[in-house]
Amino acid sequence: PVVRDAEALRVTITAGPTREALDPVRYLSNHSSGKMGYALAEAWARRGAQVRLISGPVTLAAPTNVERVDVTSASEMLSAAEQSAAESDIFIGCAAVADYRADTVAEHKLKKADASDTMTLTLVKNPDIVATIAARSPRPLVVGFAAETRDLERYARDKLTRKGMDMIVANDVSSAGLGFGADDNAALLLWHADDTIERQALPAQAKTDLADAIVDRVLSLYANRAAT
Ligand code: PMT
Repeated sequence: PVVRDAEALRVTITAGPTREALDPVRYLSNHSSGKMGYALAEAWARRGAQVRLISGPVTLAAPTNVERVDVTSASEMLSAAEQSAAESDIFIGCAAVADYRADTVAEHKLKKADASDTMTLTLVKNPDIVATIAARSPRPLVVGFAAETRDLERYARDKLTRKGMDMIVANDVSSAGLGFGADDNAALLLWHADDTIERQALPAQAKTDLADAIVDRVLSLYANRAAT
């Protein structure tokens, strides 16, 4: 049976990678396929939520009943996210946002310098989208992700607090067959409860199933938040 327990909720989700241009033909990016974020969008929409999916460049089709907004760079993702968050109850940052971009984007294709075998790029930090949304007032319930290759829980706890999130979905992206590009994923959920941080480990499973388990936890946090 289809449970429409997210009816009337407005949810914004970011997904996929961002691309940071170096010149007209090159960019910096990462291996995010968008599968995790799209699975979340599909789960929320199936459960009755009104979903806006802010997507970096991926090859996936938008799920049924999901409004998709296409962006390329982190700056574009930030503007779309700020606009959408203002009219959302829940914001989920699943995108693998590039932490840095080139300080200047070359107008013409960069040329090889014959005199040197090395090339130096100067990068500047991108704005943090999840932290920007979490700093707004009023603001939606904010859920972020943490992609780590070691010390998963320690780094995730630090990100949860530092970025002002309500909950974080921590995934180990060094395990074969999980994380970036894979169909399966495992996660450790961490969220603030009174003065402590509570946790729930979700074992490896299809991203579509994991998405439903994440939605369950977010709905219960949202209900608690509304009650306080
Ligand atoms: O897309 P798939 O192939 O399905 O892979 C899924 C995934 C591994 C990409 C996904 O599960 C995941 O972990 N997404 C977050 C990836 C990431 O960039 O993690 P991070 O630990 O670097 O960032 C922490 C959080 O801050 C994330 O919520 C991220 O969206 C956010 N962030 C990061 C940098 C930035 N400039 N702005 C942000 O909002």
